[in-house]
Amino acid sequence: MTRFAKFVGGFAVAVAMVTALPIIARADDKDVIDYREHIMKTLDAQTAAIGMIVSTQVGDDNLVAHAEAIAVTAKQALKSFEAKVPGGESKPEVWSNWPDFEKRMKDFVEKTDKLAASAKTGGVPVVMEQMVDALTCKGCHDVYRSKK
Ligand code: HEC
Repeated sequence: MTRFAKFVGGFAVAVAMVTALPIIARADDKDVIDYREHIMKTLDAQTAAIGMIVSTQVGDDNLVAHAEAIAVTAKQALKSFEAKVPGGESKPEVWSNWPDFEKRMKDFVEKTDKLAASAKTGGVPVVMEQMVDALTCKGCHDVYRSKK
């Protein structure tokens, strides 16, 4: 390859990279939204699994593991909203009312931690008792999520 050909080739690569940048920047925002939605879907699946256990459709062998999974995922959820990226099903109020949203997330983390501890000591009966209070999904969605 001549030096000129190398130069033209290198230039073409540089141009391609620069023109790709705005696309990458948009993908970043989409990634942030996808990420928090994956975490929410995990909460949904783990909650559904606990629902099947307490309604005796399946055995309770995994009760503690599911409750712990929800507690861990609640912590991930709090983190996943820290980046201020409106969109998805999030209402803009998530960030304009951040202190309230953050407080709700932290309460959710605390209560699901307690639920996991209760699952260990008290099993299905205690989880049934505390579930409605700990799983504050709907309370938050009513204010901060616009279902599409
Ligand atoms: C403190 C607020 C809050 C709590 C608590 C919360 N969520 Fe969410 N959830 C949101 C917000 C905000 C969205 C919208 C996310 C987005 O699309 O940007 C959402 C979205 C979702 C979605 C849709 C995800 C998708 O694919 O678009 C599901 C499913 C969901 N939540 C389930 C749950 C379940 C189940 C719980 C409880 C165990 C829960 N959430 C607790 C705020 C919350």
